[in-house]
Amino acid sequence: MCPPDYYGIEYEINPWMSRSRNSDSTLAKDQWHALRELLDQLGADIRLMPAEAGLPDLVFTANAGLVFHNRVYLSRFRHEARQGETPLDERWFRDEGFETVTMSGEWAFEGAGDALFCGQTLFAGYLIRSDAAGMQWLAAQIGCRVIPLQLVDEHYYHLDTCFCPLSPEEAIYYPPAFDGYAQTALREHIPNLIAVTEAEAARFACNAVVIGRHIVLNTGCPELERELNQRGYHVHHTELGEFIKAGGSAKCLTLRLDGEEAAIWS
Ligand code: ARG
Repeated sequence: MCPPDYYGIEYEINPWMSRSRNSDSTLAKDQWHALRELLDQLGADIRLMPAEAGLPDLVFTANAGLVFHNRVYLSRFRHEARQGETPLDERWFRDEGFETVTMSGEWAFEGAGDALFCGQTLFAGYLIRSDAAGMQWLAAQIGCRVIPLQLVDEHYYHLDTCFCPLSPEEAIYYPPAFDGYAQTALREHIPNLIAVTEAEAARFACNAVVIGRHIVLNTGCPELERELNQRGYHVHHTELGEFIKAGGSAKCLTLRLDGEEAAIWS
């Protein structure tokens, strides 16, 4: 995680962001600390990356890269506003002992925001922030199957805003964020899919942190919470409204270094 010391809405690169609706820095810090505290209580061993002035979205560490064992495939941000993050991410990963890989300059790639393992398969969101060809290259490097999923709604510009693997057989998703082919692919590959409503998708219901059977998400998603409780998960909510203003929530504020719960390799 990276603290929100320099977080704010300084540019607009997704429909949630508006410079006329900046975040309240005290509130953002309080919300971030509450999330960190909750994850800590659930047993997460949290590593911190220092914040940097001029990089307000560095808090969204999910976009630093895709971690696979001891290797990190670094992001190549679509928008110039976030491209300054990558050298800092690279240095941080190296200092922590990870091997870093830089992808070809032809492709945009936004890390664990768009590339999520469910079982042995890499589910890859493309079009808005990441390019499909880069995802194919990545899967070939890793030696795994990739299911490219076309994202069609600018509000759900990263895969982790509309899809959340819970286990190798189970995931949360918001169907209208995907084209028809992607919806079919998801139904074919994941036996238990939990669809969220439009209202809860907009509360970033799909942007959840999964720690074992515990799920952490933003407030305002009662229907999903009920469904998850019925399926035997323990759900925890914490207010993250200041981060929704930038188009992010719980999951984007974190990057799993040891593999997601749903990833077979972890
Ligand atoms: N403002 C950031 C952006 O538009 C938010 C990133 C949220 N991250 C995520 N993994 N969904 O890039």
